[in-house]
Amino acid sequence: MHFVRAASQDGAQKVRLPSEPKDPKGEGAGCGRSRGMNAKRRVTIPPPAYPSPPELIRRKREGGKLTEDEIRHWIRAYVDGSIADYQMAAMAMAIFFQGMTPKETAALTMAMRDSGKVIDLSSVRGIKVDKHSTGGVGDKVSLCLAPMVAACGVPVPMVAGRGLGHTGGTLDKLEAIPGFRCDLSTKQFVKQIRTIGCAIFGQTAEIAPADRQLYALRDVTGTIESIPLITGSILSKKLAEGIDALVLDLKVGQGAFMQTIEQARELARSIVRTGKAADKKVTVLLTRMDAPLGRAVGNANETREAFEVLHGEGPEDLVECTLALGAEMLKLGGIEKSESKARARLIETTKDGSAVALMQKLVKAQGGDPRVVAEPDRLEIAKKKVVVKAPKAGYVSAIDAREVGLAGVDLGAGRTRSDQEVDHAVSIHIDAKPGEKVAAGDPLATLFVHDARKAKAAADRVGAAFSVASRRPKTPELVIETIRR
Ligand code: URA
Repeated sequence: MHFVRAASQDGAQKVRLPSEPKDPKGEGAGCGRSRGMNAKRRVTIPPPAYPSPPELIRRKREGGKLTEDEIRHWIRAYVDGSIADYQMAAMAMAIFFQGMTPKETAALTMAMRDSGKVIDLSSVRGIKVDKHSTGGVGDKVSLCLAPMVAACGVPVPMVAGRGLGHTGGTLDKLEAIPGFRCDLSTKQFVKQIRTIGCAIFGQTAEIAPADRQLYALRDVTGTIESIPLITGSILSKKLAEGIDALVLDLKVGQGAFMQTIEQARELARSIVRTGKAADKKVTVLLTRMDAPLGRAVGNANETREAFEVLHGEGPEDLVECTLALGAEMLKLGGIEKSESKARARLIETTKDGSAVALMQKLVKAQGGDPRVVAEPDRLEIAKKKVVVKAPKAGYVSAIDAREVGLAGVDLGAGRTRSDQEVDHAVSIHIDAKPGEKVAAGDPLATLFVHDARKAKAAADRVGAAFSVASRRPKTPELVIETIRR
C-alpha cells in the first residue's frame, strides 16, 4: 500500500489512502454507501509514536543510529522534563562511547538550538561574526577582540560564559568593572548590536536551554569529553544568538580540555562540518594552551591587561592571539580579504582610539564605569603581594597553565561549583614567561591577595608549576593550524 504523508498543524499525520482494499462487509463509513476500490478518503492518525527512552538508549549503546526525528523528540522531551536526568545521562554516556554520525551530530545541534529562542539579528546590517574559546588560563581575548573587530565595522554578538574549574570566564572578568551587567534581555542585546556594533551577555534561560541542562549534567557524569556532545553544546548556543559566522579558538595543551592535537583536529572538523549543515561559515584556530596566555590570571587583572591591548600595548602572545582570531573575523565578515590587511586594520583601531571608544560605549551601555577603559588602574586589585621566586638561574622552560589556574581558584578567583561567587580582586601575575631568563631569587610570579598567610598553599602551587632549565627553550608558534569550511 502506498501512503502519502502530509504533516498537519497539530502534528498528526493526514494519511491519504489512494487504493484501499474493498470493504469485505460493504459497511463503508457506516452510511450505507459502498466505497469503490479507487475511492479516496482521509483519516487522521496520531503523531508517530517514538521508541521508548530505554529502547533508544539501548540502540545507541549498541552502536545504532538515531533518526533526526528521534533526536529532536528526545531533546524536546528532555527539556520539558518527560525524559529524566538519569535517562539523559545514560544516553550521554552511550554517545560518549559510540559517537554519532555527522548527520546525528547536526540533528542534535539543531534540536538543542531550537530548544529555546533563536535571536533574530536581521535588523542589524552586515555579516554578524562571533568568536568562542573552548577555555583556557589567562584567556581574556574576548575583552579586547570584540571591540577591535566591531570598531572595524563587523557586528559582534557575543554570548559568553563564566569560569569553571581551572579556566576563567569572560563574564567574571567583565563583572570586575564596577556596575557592569551581563544579564541583558534579548531586546537590549539586539538594540545594542544595532547601535554600538557589539554586546556581550550571559546565556539566559531562553538561549539553548537544552545545552544549559545537559552541560550541567555532563559536568557531573563524566561525559564532557565527547566530540558530538561538545559540538552540539558550543554550536547550539552560538547559532541561537543569530550569528552568520563564527571563529572558534580551540585551545590545545595541558591547560585546555583538549590535550592532544589529534583530538582537537577531530573536534574542529566536527564543528566546521556541523556549522556548514546549519549554513554558517565556521573557522577554527587551534591555539596552544600549555602556559597561561598573557601575564595576568585573575579577573580584574585580566581585564586590565585586555584594555592594555586596546591601547596598543599588552603581552606579545595575547596580542598575537587577538590579531589571529580578529583577522579571521574580518575575513568572514567580508571586510578584508588578506590576513596582513586585516591585521593592519585591527592594529589601526588601537592607534586611532576607535577600539577604546567602542569599549567605553559598550561598558556604559551595560551599566559599567566607562572610565576604566582609558584608565585600567581604576580596577581594584588586592593589595598584599606574595612573590614566588626562582629556585635557580636559567630560563623558564614551561609553566603548567592548569596548575596556575587551580592556584587562582584556591585564591578565590575561580569557582569549583557553578553557584559560587568569585573574588574579582585576587590574581596571579606571571613575571617570567617561557623563554625568559631569570637569576636565582628573581620573581617568577606575584600573587595579589587579601591575606598573605592564607596564600601560602597557592604560592607553593604556582612555584611548582614553573620549570627552569639551563638552555633557552624554543617558543613554538601560538597558532598551530587553521581549519576552515
Ligand atoms: N564548551 C562548551 O560550551 N561546551 C562544551 O561541551 C565544552 C566546552
